[in-house]
Amino acid sequence: MEVERFSGSQALARGAAGRIVAAARRAVARSGRFSLFLAGGSTPRALYTLLAEEEWRQQIPWGQVQVYFGDERCVPPEHPDSNYRLARETLFNRVPLPPENIHRMTGEAGAERGAALYEQVLRQNFERSGGETLADVILLGMGEDGHTASLFPHSPALQVARRWVTPVPHDEPPPPLVDRISLTVEFINQAAEVLFLVQGDSKAGRLRQVLQPLPGQRPLPVQLVRPVHGSLAWLLDRAAASQLAAFPRS
Ligand code: 6PG
Repeated sequence: MEVERFSGSQALARGAAGRIVAAARRAVARSGRFSLFLAGGSTPRALYTLLAEEEWRQQIPWGQVQVYFGDERCVPPEHPDSNYRLARETLFNRVPLPPENIHRMTGEAGAERGAALYEQVLRQNFERSGGETLADVILLGMGEDGHTASLFPHSPALQVARRWVTPVPHDEPPPPLVDRISLTVEFINQAAEVLFLVQGDSKAGRLRQVLQPLPGQRPLPVQLVRPVHGSLAWLLDRAAASQLAAFPRS
């Protein structure tokens, strides 16, 4: 596992963009395609905006990029809370990504049906081609409670097996305010590369608990992300990393 600290959100976005460009080049050289799973929430906004800027946009072979989502709220795509809407406004509308290369989670279909539909999408696109990994890059955030994607502490979704996508009812247990759809831990851990993007001092205490755990601590959802054959990197801004002991300078 790698932990890299950046001076602020723009530097973090540049660090993540550099990793994505490198991963895209490797994947396209190897297989002619690059699968990128986007995170929701607010942290990735700076990264998506940066990827659409000329300096970075021209480094990515958008025609060979397949974009997926790590999770979605069960709202229509134009809803302010839609993760798809965030990506459309900051990225999709500003790069030459073919519409057919965007694989949206249909939150408006409801959690059960939306999850089943997306399971089919992933099964069609990631049938085992003999490789050890599935997704090329999965971007994730971390909530203050240690959730990631829409996998919340104590949720039954954390134990879902033999499925790559799961419904997340909003009250089993709280906190999501609406039903959600999420990748499962099982699918995430088959990625070639997982990047956590975490910023802000509100995450600092939880991050210390996650990256420097005390013995006997119950694992949080983010701690279940342990790629089997892939790599894992935590990209942090200074504020989020502020409570980590003896942090090596990046
Ligand atoms: C979501 C995200 C969620 C997010 C974290 C961090 O749909 O809300 O997938 O897991 O990454 O809650 O959110 P912020 O980046 O807004 O702090």
